[in-house]
Amino acid sequence: MIPFFSEKSKLFRNWLSAAGAILATAAFFAFLLLFAIDVFARQSNPYVGILGYIVAPAFFFGGTAMLFIGFRIQRKHEASGSGKPHLLVMDLSRSRDRRILQFFVAGGVAFLLITAIGVTQTYHYTESTHFCGETCHEPMTPEYTAYLTSPHARVGCVDCHIGSGAEYYVKAKINGVHQLISTALNNYQRPIPTPVKNLRPAQDTCEQCHWPEKLSGNLERTYHRFLADEKNTPFTVRMLLMVGASDVHPTMANGIHWHINLTNKVEYYAPDPKRQTIPWVRVTHSDGTTTIYRAPDYKDEPPANEVRRMDCLDCHNRPAHRFRAPNESVDMALQSGRLDRDLPWVKSNVVAALIAPYNTREEAMQRIGDSLRGTYKDSPKVESIVAVAQQIYGESFFPEMKANWKAYPDNKGHKEWPGCFRCHDGQHKTTDGKRAIGGSECNSCHMILAQGSTKEELSKLSAEGHTFYHIDAEYTDLSCNQCHTGAFVAE
Ligand code: HEC
Ligand code: HEC
Ligand code: HEC
Ligand code: HEC
Ligand code: HEC
Ligand code: HEC
Repeated sequence: MIPFFSEKSKLFRNWLSAAGAILATAAFFAFLLLFAIDVFARQSNPYVGILGYIVAPAFFFGGTAMLFIGFRIQRKHEASGSGKPHLLVMDLSRSRDRRILQFFVAGGVAFLLITAIGVTQTYHYTESTHFCGETCHEPMTPEYTAYLTSPHARVGCVDCHIGSGAEYYVKAKINGVHQLISTALNNYQRPIPTPVKNLRPAQDTCEQCHWPEKLSGNLERTYHRFLADEKNTPFTVRMLLMVGASDVHPTMANGIHWHINLTNKVEYYAPDPKRQTIPWVRVTHSDGTTTIYRAPDYKDEPPANEVRRMDCLDCHNRPAHRFRAPNESVDMALQSGRLDRDLPWVKSNVVAALIAPYNTREEAMQRIGDSLRGTYKDSPKVESIVAVAQQIYGESFFPEMKANWKAYPDNKGHKEWPGCFRCHDGQHKTTDGKRAIGGSECNSCHMILAQGSTKEELSKLSAEGHTFYHIDAEYTDLSCNQCHTGAFVAE
C-alpha cells in the first residue's frame, strides 16, 4: 500500500482512479444499505442477498481495480520518461478549480443519493411478487399463472416460500443464487420438481396467517360433474366435509383436521420423491405412547432422517399453484354456462382437444382451434367453444415447462390422486395386523347429502348421508385414481 501523503500517492490523481474511487465508494455505500435492509427488514428475500453480497462487492472490486489501473498507467508514464504524468492538479486558489471541486462534491452527493434510491427501489422490486413470478419469465410462468387465480393471489411468494428468520433466509439466499445461475444457463428442470425440499414447516408460513386452533367446522361442497357421453349428462354430489367442529376445545379437534390437533403427532415415511406412496405411519398420542401402521408389503424400519411430521402441506400442497385437471376445468365451464351443455359430446371433445400432445403453446392454440372448428363447424357457437378451450389451456397447460395437472399431484382428496388414500386405504395396519388406520370409511371424512343427475334426485337430502351411487360402475375394490385420471376415465 502506498501511504497517502507519499510522493507516489499523487499517481492516484488521474481520471480513471478518481472514477474508480467514486464507484467503489458508491458500491460500499450500497452494500451497507443492503446489509442494513438484510438485517432489519421484517421479511427479506434471496435477491437482496444477490445484490448485497454479489453485485455490490463486484462493483466495489471493479472500482478498486480501476483505482489501481489508473495508478499503474501513471507510473508507466513516469517510468518511460515521457515527461511528467498527467496529474489531476487542484489548486483551490484558482476559482476554476474551486468550481470543479464544488461540482465534484455536488455530483458525488447526488451519485450516492441516486445509489441509495436505486438500491431501495431494487429491493422493493425484488421483494415483489411481480419479480418472483415474471422476471424468470419462462420457468415461473406456470406457478405464477396458477397463483394469480388462487385464493392466495394477494399473498406474497415470500410469505410461503421464505417466511422470516435467519436460517431459512440463508438457505433461500443460497438457493436464489443457484436459481439465478440455472436460469441464466437455461438448465433448470422441466417441470420444476416438487415438493420444494427446503420449504419450511407450515408452522412458520401458513400458520402465521391460519391459526390451527381456529377450526373450520363442517364445510358443504357441491361437486358438479358431467359425463363424457353424448348428452354431457350432469352428475352432482353435494357433500358435507367434516373438517373439524369449531365449537370444541382445540385439543379435542376431530374430523379431517384431527391431524393438526395440537395433541396429535402424525409422522410418515414416503420413499418416492413426490411422496405418493406412504408405507409407514406413526402416531404419537397425547400420553406419549405410539402406534405404528404399515402397508402390507412393508416390513422395514424407515431411515430416521426421512421421517416427516405431517402438517398442512401434506394435504393442502397446492394452495397457490393448482393446475386444474381438464376434466374439472371443462366441468366448471359447463356448470357456469360458458360451454353449452346442449352441444353433443362437447365435454368429451373439449377434453380430447386439451390433452392431445403439443410441443408449444402456439401449436396447441392453433390445433385446438382447428380440431374444434372441424367438429362444430355447423354450430353458431363454434367460436365460443374454441375460445373457452383455449382459455382453459392457457390457464393450466404449459408445454414449454412440461407443467400441467399430471406433473403436480394434489393431495387433498382421493379421486385423481391417491391423496388421503395413501394412508386411509384400509390396508395400513398395526404390527399385530388387528387394526387399520381409523377414519377410512366413506363416511368418516364426508357425508353425501344429495347426489344424482336430476332436480328430483338432488332434492332428496339425507341427514345421515347417502351411500355413494356411482354411475352403475363398480369401484369398491379399486382406488378411484386407478380409473379417474383427471382427463378420461380409464376402464
Ligand atoms: C400460499 C402459499 C404459497 C404462495 C403465496 C406461493 N407459493 Fe409457490 N408453492 C407453495 C407450496 C406449498 C409449494 C409446494 C407444492 C407441492 O409440494 O406440491 C409451492 C411450489 C412452488 C414451485 C415449485 C413447482 C411447483 O409447482 O410445485 C414454484 C416454482 C413456486 N412455488 C413459485 C412461486 C411463485 C413464483 C410465487 C409467487 C408468484 C409463489 N410460489 C407463491 C406455496 C406457495
Ligand atoms: C399471508 C397470509 C397467508 C398465508 C401465509 C397463507 N394463507 Fe391461506 N389464506 C389466506 C387468506 C386471506 C385466505 C382467504 C382467501 C379467500 O377467502 O379469498 C386463505 C385461504 C386458504 C384456504 C382456503 C382456500 C379455499 O379454497 O377457499 C386454505 C386451504 C389455505 N388458505 C391454506 C394455506 C396453506 C396450506 C398455507 C401455507 C402453505 C397458507 N394458506 C398460507 C392467507 C394466508
Ligand atoms: C389431513 C389433511 C389436512 C391437513 C393436515 C390440513 N388440512 Fe385443512 N382441510 C383439509 C380438507 C380436506 C379441507 C376441506 C375443504 C377443502 O376441500 O378445501 C380443509 C379445509 C381447510 C380450510 C377451510 C377452507 C375453506 O374453504 O374454508 C382451511 C383454512 C384449512 N383447511 C387450513 C389448514 C391449515 C392452516 C392446516 C395446517 C395447520 C391444515 N388445513 C391442515 C385437509 C387438511
Ligand atoms: C400420512 C398418513 C395420512 C394421510 C395422508 C391422511 N391421514 Fe387421516 N389419519 C391418519 C392417521 C394415522 C389417523 C389416526 C387414525 C387412528 O388413530 O386410528 C387419521 C385419522 C383421520 C380421521 C379420523 C379423525 C378422528 O376424529 O378420529 C379423519 C377424518 C381423517 N384422518 C381424514 C383424512 C383426510 C380427509 C385426508 C386427506 C385429505 C387424510 N386423512 C390423510 C393418517 C393420515
Ligand atoms: C380419509 C378421508 C376420506 C375417505 C375415507 C373418503 N373420502 Fe371421499 N373425499 C375426501 C375428501 C377430502 C374429498 C374432497 C376433495 C376436494 O374437495 O378436493 C373427497 C371427495 C369425494 C367425492 C367428490 C369427488 C369429485 O371430485 O367429484 C366423492 C364422490 C367421494 N369423495 C366419494 C367417496 C367414497 C365413495 C368413499 C368410500 C369408498 C370416500 N369418498 C372415502 C375424503 C375422503
Ligand atoms: C373401475 C373404474 C372406476 C373406479 C375404480 C372409480 N370410478 Fe368413478 N367413474 C368410472 C366411470 C367409467 C365413470 C363414468 C365416466 C363418464 O362417463 O364420464 C365414473 C364416473 C364418476 C363420477 C362422475 C363423473 C366424473 O367424471 O366425475 C364421479 C364423481 C366418480 N366416478 C367418483 C368416483 C370415486 C369417488 C371413486 C372412488 C371411490 C371412483 N369414482 C372409482 C369409473 C371408475
